[in-house]
Amino acid sequence: MNVTFEKAENTTVEWLTPPELVRMLGEFDLDPCTPVNPPFTHAKVNYNINDNGLKKEWFGRVYMNPPYGKGMELWIEKLKIHNNGIALIFARTETKCFFNHIWDDADAVLFVKGRIKFYDIHGLQKGTPGAPSIFIAYGKENAMILEESKIEGKFIRLK
Ligand SMILES: C[S@@+](CC[C@H](N)C(=O)[O-])C[C@H]1O[C@@H](n2cnc3c(N)ncnc32)[C@H](O)[C@@H]1O
Repeated sequence: MNVTFEKAENTTVEWLTPPELVRMLGEFDLDPCTPVNPPFTHAKVNYNINDNGLKKEWFGRVYMNPPYGKGMELWIEKLKIHNNGIALIFARTETKCFFNHIWDDADAVLFVKGRIKFYDIHGLQKGTPGAPSIFIAYGKENAMILEESKIEGKFIRLK
């Protein structure tokens, strides 16, 4: 597969995952897309826009809430190839991204009940975006962790 990971569209919109939600998914080695000055972190190692997390080598268990916009599919594709991690994106289940990289490739998904209250760059809860969210697990162990997490929603195994 010949994929150019450099093309992702960057965005200044910062919707940070509530840390208490990520903690329900266990420990992560890498978050490849974090703010430059994050109010909290979700993983041991964190890449920001200055590192360009999309171009870097990924390792270990990855937590990823990717930058929104057209380039988002490239981040999901990279996690699919890495095959060890959990992503959080909008549940836009009709999109090319879902058909190219999720429905036939992810191990499991969890549709989140209600709307997540994301945090802003100052570490304050800023409210909900206008869309539902979904966690996507790549790798059998991540599917098991997602299933056993206490995150409220509908878990569906895909493989
Ligand atoms: C939706 S936010 C999620 C932040 C964090 N992962 C979380 O869930 O709390 C996406 C983040 O990706 C960062 N970002 C954008 N382009 C990036 C790039 N090329 N490499 C690394 N991070 C990037 C943005 O600055 C933003 O902080």
